[in-house]
Amino acid sequence: MNLVSAPASTPAIHNVLYCSHATSVMTDEELARIIRTSQQNNPRKGITGLLVYGGGMFLQWLEGPREAVEALMSTLSTDPRHETIVRLQVLDGLKERLYPKWAMHSVAPREIREILIDCLSRARTDGHAHVISLMIELLETDQLAALKPQGLKSL
Ligand SMILES: Cc1cc2nc3c(=O)[nH]c(=O)nc-3n(C[C@H](O)[C@H](O)[C@H](O)COP(=O)(O)O)c2cc1C
Repeated sequence: MNLVSAPASTPAIHNVLYCSHATSVMTDEELARIIRTSQQNNPRKGITGLLVYGGGMFLQWLEGPREAVEALMSTLSTDPRHETIVRLQVLDGLKERLYPKWAMHSVAPREIREILIDCLSRARTDGHAHVISLMIELLETDQLAALKPQGLKSL
């Protein structure tokens, strides 16, 4: 865990939760490289969050100033290590961060369920709640990799 001193309460926090498909199987070293880069870059942009890799998919929670988070989303959209990025939840104007101490924290797949249930409790629309419930269901039946982000683009 990489602890940084981002303020727990910052004005206008923007939050994006997305999932994407890894374009190839990630080795521990490749995943560690992404986390290292994130931990180097994110603190100076005021971004915190967590990253999960499992079942051939990434799930990333990003929070920070709107422009910084959206600029990172643009960078991520051109990263060849993943594709079909689907935003599951976007929240704007939040007063507090959920993960103020994590510059970018790698979470083991077995912890995804807990995170998704946490997200579900805060889902603001039926559409988001539906997608998150679907992911939990797929996870419980060990089919997360079968999630087809293409089919969820309308969200
Ligand atoms: C799933 C995934 C998550 C990533 N998360 C971050 C992140 O939180 N912060 C970041 O700076 N780069 C992240 N990256 C890497 C960026 O796409 C990009 O390679 C990096 O920001 C370039 O940084 P550099 O200019 O310092 O080399 C991620 C890449 C992938 C595939």
